Amino acid sequence: MKLILYFSAEKGKTAKIAQDFAKKQQEVTQEVTVLEIKPEVPYTSADLRYINPLARCNKEKLMKKDVPSETKVPDWENYDVVYLGFPIWYGGAPNIINTFCKGLDWTGKKVHIFATSMTSGMGKTAEKLKPFLNGAEIVDAKRVKSAEEMQDYSHDGGDKFPAKNDRGYDWWLNKGTLSANKP
Ligand SMILES: Cc1cc2nc3c(=O)[nH]c(=O)nc-3n(C[C@H](O)[C@H](O)[C@H](O)COP(=O)(O)O)c2cc1C
Repeated sequence: MKLILYFSAEKGKTAKIAQDFAKKQQEVTQEVTVLEIKPEVPYTSADLRYINPLARCNKEKLMKKDVPSETKVPDWENYDVVYLGFPIWYGGAPNIINTFCKGLDWTGKKVHIFATSMTSGMGKTAEKLKPFLNGAEIVDAKRVKSAEEMQDYSHDGGDKFPAKNDRGYDWWLNKGTLSANKP
């Protein structure tokens, strides 16, 4: 059975892609479930204002905080394929994804990672997430802009859609957001 798991915070960009993809999959097979990873404490727009050094998102990132989720996956052991989607934050997965993933046994699961972003490509996102997906096989990891692009997994080996004028995650880490926190 397939599971589409996603986290989405700002404008529901990742949510829309996950839901569209789920619909397409469900046209083909009944064996697809879609679940949103919801934080125990929902993000407000102030929490996500990364240009404010004191915003929740920056504190979570800098302090490497766990971000607990209220989402539970019923019958986790029944899923062999998991699509895991999230927005790229600071060149990687948001902390809530790490926290969520490390609480599960991924042994034997095939994982397709998909992410949305403003400008960044996948970079090292999958590599950084790997330690939290213990036992999983990461089949693919890519940045997508639509559910159609997700259908391409069979022949896409990586980041097929690197953004033009990509600022890169260094920009996000250093200049874009967290510079105000530096001495
Ligand atoms: C805290 C935070 C950090 C972000 N870091 C990056 C980044 O490193 N690179 C990038 O291209 N976009 C970054 N973004 C933008 C989001 O990845 C982008 O807007 C995403 O598509 C939002 O998806 P959503 O509407 O599902 O939340 C960041 C956004 C937030 C709130």
